[in-house]
Amino acid sequence: MKILVTGGAGYIGSHTVVELLTEGHEVVVLDNLDNANNIVLDRIQKITGKSAIFYNFSITEKPKMRDLFEKEKIDAVIHFAALKAVGESLEKPLQYYSVNIGGTINLLEVMREFNVKNFIFSSSATVYGPTYPVPFTEDMKPSSDTTTPYGYSKVVLERILEDIGNADKDFKIISLRYFNPVGAHQSGLIGESPIGEPKNLPAILTQIAIGKIEKFTVFGNDYDTPDGTCTRDYIHVVDLAKGHTKALNKISEISGYEVYNLGTGKDYSVLEMIEAFEKATGEKIPYEIGERRPNNADIPICYSSAEKAEKELLFKAEFSIEDMWRDSWRFQQKNPNGYQ
Ligand code: NAD
Ligand code: WQD
Repeated sequence: MKILVTGGAGYIGSHTVVELLTEGHEVVVLDNLDNANNIVLDRIQKITGKSAIFYNFSITEKPKMRDLFEKEKIDAVIHFAALKAVGESLEKPLQYYSVNIGGTINLLEVMREFNVKNFIFSSSATVYGPTYPVPFTEDMKPSSDTTTPYGYSKVVLERILEDIGNADKDFKIISLRYFNPVGAHQSGLIGESPIGEPKNLPAILTQIAIGKIEKFTVFGNDYDTPDGTCTRDYIHVVDLAKGHTKALNKISEISGYEVYNLGTGKDYSVLEMIEAFEKATGEKIPYEIGERRPNNADIPICYSSAEKAEKELLFKAEFSIEDMWRDSWRFQQKNPNGYQ
């Protein structure tokens, strides 16, 4: 198939492009490089021996989107492109809603014009919000208690996609709710390269180990969890990428709208992640216990039910926490300044 991958130069998108090319698909990447570097496309070619066609513009630019669909005969769209800095979204809500929601509506309208109806969407565990019990299952509706504009953009988009799927059963739409991605491609050629100061646990730990950040602050150890620190369902980015090819294999059977979690079904605490990092890499992580995250923004425990994806997509995450850290660290060491 010929697949349009929006945000295909980004962290999860680039790993997915590698899997798609490896499986023999043709790939068109659309990315405005807002949070990416076009060197990634060369790296993808190095890994796979194949190239993706590249367009550099924003998903908010409708005439350019039409030109792309006119020129490329797209069979399916995997839609990663979005602004994703959770904290920043509180400062720039309009920008987040405009790109994430406005850009996605543009894309869907152009898809409909060109009768392209296969769509895979990057959703997030954040849509489960703070009140559902774990493990999170796909029948739980996105929660409007989600605290940030970023999270709310995913909640709204899932609702929009469900409505489109209900109204037009020719649409085949899958929302994939990602849990916490970690790791990098085994080649060490592509990985996470945050622009600016990293805010998420994986990027902070690798930057501490490489000497760019002094120490880690654990956001609270007074939660009702086994060691008092929050737990998350961390998943290797290559497993996550493979989840997309599994979803693509399934899409012809979908009628309307479907949701799948992409997680491992297991959770690790912050302290367990630090320990696993030290074990996998031999690097020591200096850390201190600090206050809870501002606005008490963390839920104590977050992990997926991985059953539906396993049963219906035949997807099962294979990599361990050690694999995740080994691969993250390899990428960081090979690229001390990321792609810059
Ligand atoms: P990323 O920032 O690395 O990738 C997003 C890509 O989209 C970047 O390459 C960026 O340049 C591009 N982009 C941004 N705005 C654009 C625009 N207006 N037009 C075209 N391209 C644009 O982020 P990621 O971690 O790879 O996330 C990919 C998707 O997965 C996002 O939708 C994100 O919300 C979602 N997601 C990420 C996580 C996570 O923890 N990384 C978790 C759940 C869901
Ligand atoms: C993981 C754990 C922190 C930094 C975010 C988004 C979510 C999704 C995935 C996109 C938590 C702890 C972190 C630090 C710490 N993204 N931590 N000190 O918050 O689970 O999810 O990324 O959709 O929407 O909110 O990920 O990596 O920020 O935090 O103790 O300096 O690490 O408290 O328990 P999070 P994270």
